[in-house]
Amino acid sequence: MTSRKGLLLAGGTGSRLWPITLGISKQLLPLYDKPMIYYPLSVLMLAGIREICIITTPEDQPQFRRLLGDGSQWGLDLHYIIQPRPDGLAQAYLLAEDWLAGAPSAMVLGDNIFHGDGLARLLARADARPHGTVFGYRVRDPERYGVLGFDAAGRVTSITEKPIEPASPFAVTGLYFLDGDAPARARAVRPSNRGELEITSLLEMYLGDGLLEVETLGRGYAWLDTGTHAALLDAGNFVRTLEDRQGMQTGCPEEIAFQQGWIDTPALLAQAARFGKTDYGAYLATLAAPQGGYDQMPPGDIRSDTCL
Ligand code: G1P
Repeated sequence: MTSRKGLLLAGGTGSRLWPITLGISKQLLPLYDKPMIYYPLSVLMLAGIREICIITTPEDQPQFRRLLGDGSQWGLDLHYIIQPRPDGLAQAYLLAEDWLAGAPSAMVLGDNIFHGDGLARLLARADARPHGTVFGYRVRDPERYGVLGFDAAGRVTSITEKPIEPASPFAVTGLYFLDGDAPARARAVRPSNRGELEITSLLEMYLGDGLLEVETLGRGYAWLDTGTHAALLDAGNFVRTLEDRQGMQTGCPEEIAFQQGWIDTPALLAQAARFGKTDYGAYLATLAAPQGGYDQMPPGDIRSDTCL
């Protein structure tokens, strides 16, 4: 099988965060100590994906290129595609069809923040499936999202975009593992009432054909929203709380690249040097030291599965 490619959707006007997103893309805003896009990018990297396409508005693309470059600093191969108008998430598969060239994909929304122990294992399970996987997460306000409906046996029977009366409290998160047919299927999606090619319509096709698995992320996971000013600040504080308490980074591309063996110690140290005297640079340098600079550590690498 062709290896899975990543799609990172970072388009949109960010209008719910105006005026801060009038002059900059939402996905470039800081989430505490890193640009927001680092976090979803880290999810794709944790899934073992190295070929990633960044989809942005025409105006914002130069800034994303400036930030992320060609990805070689992290052992990645980054590609850039423009989404001229925010016509819906499913459009990403049409825009990226040639680049995907029949490969299965994992698409993540550039403003979705995932954190949880064991995430890498969950991603590996999704990657191993031949068709589709989405991730459900219990929220207080499901009507703001795509929502899952279940039958009495707990099987998923429906996915509905922003329902007035949600069938369950489980939202569909912005991370979609689909097979190589996704672009062809996306061509059959018709614009919704809000004029968008909805990802939910595409997922309904997979579900109807019995080709969609749903993993629920339990209460030990965080799936955080950045859709309002308050939610953005809360998500930043969440990252700060974790990092400050543990002395470890979350959503750190250099760390994941190093763990995956995509960059070697000299490359990691070069990145550390680039960040100079910042805490981030110092952290990268400790990763290069055996045991992270400590004499003693418990058996196994406690960092390996928790870095998001
Ligand atoms: C989109 C999807 C929705 C999903 C959500 C996750 O909503 O349409 O199904 O639950 O992302 O963040 P949007 O943010 O475009 O309103």
